Amino acid sequence: MNKNILSILDVKDEINELIDLAIQLKKDYKNGKDIRYLKGKRLAMIFERTSVRTRVSFEFGIQMLGGIAISLTKEDIGIGTRETVEDIALAMSRYADIVMYRALDKKDLHEFARHATIPVINGLDIDEHPTQILADLTTIKEKKHTLKGLKFVFIGDGNDNLTHSYMLGCTQVGMDVTVITKKNHWPSKYFLEKATEIAKEKNVKLTITEDLNEIKNADVVATDTWISIWYKDQREQILKDLKGYTVTKDLMKKAKSDAIFIHCMPIFYEEEVTKEVAHGPQSVIIDEAENRMWAEMALMLKLLRRPK
Ligand code: NVA
Repeated sequence: MNKNILSILDVKDEINELIDLAIQLKKDYKNGKDIRYLKGKRLAMIFERTSVRTRVSFEFGIQMLGGIAISLTKEDIGIGTRETVEDIALAMSRYADIVMYRALDKKDLHEFARHATIPVINGLDIDEHPTQILADLTTIKEKKHTLKGLKFVFIGDGNDNLTHSYMLGCTQVGMDVTVITKKNHWPSKYFLEKATEIAKEKNVKLTITEDLNEIKNADVVATDTWISIWYKDQREQILKDLKGYTVTKDLMKKAKSDAIFIHCMPIFYEEEVTKEVAHGPQSVIIDEAENRMWAEMALMLKLLRRPK
């Protein structure tokens, strides 16, 4: 496993192990086992973009493992404005044992990780969201008891951080992946090429299509906000482009009858999904939100210390 987890590709070979560890930690904790394997370890979180789930799950996650956390905002630090990325990364490496960084500019994240002497985890950037996909795969495994052989369908904006991470992560664990989106919202070239390579290696299918009927036989249906913060200025155009791609109850009926629905939240109801689906019987979005914590705990544990 790489020192820095900037992409789900950084845990490529350990992905199944991490998912199983997340499930195990959750079970152990709920059964009253002492899981404080990271006593005294210090997590520093840097948020240049607001966060609810990432902040709370990382902060409570490290505490449940016996560690401590602090969180800093863009205004607190002024990365790249008040100080150089390099200087902050070097100093931070002496205070903390691990850093979670949600950067507005992906270049800053990569530069920070290059200079830091401690592990750095990407807490979401314009192109990827590695801890979310780990949580989602954990949720799918809990619900379906397997990952290999499932059909995963993403509907919405193909050029989205979540879509990219799903394409890489789901193919890696042996799922067939279908992305249903408009042609001008196709995933970006780099991720398409990477995911195509993995799909070939794992002998699974990767399909990008405009056709909503391709939801057929889906075991898992996912979507995400159509308008990421990085594309807020394009809101009106994106709404126009993706009209008709809302995940509705009627569309869900075309997937397998036991398909589950996932969404990383926050949700923009009646845009990417109806409230009826997001809170309907097939939805597992709240388990998914909880699993952010267990998956991040597994990741921090693996990066900092294995349980005895
Ligand atoms: N794709 C979303 C993820 C939010 C957690 C965004 O970039 O806003």
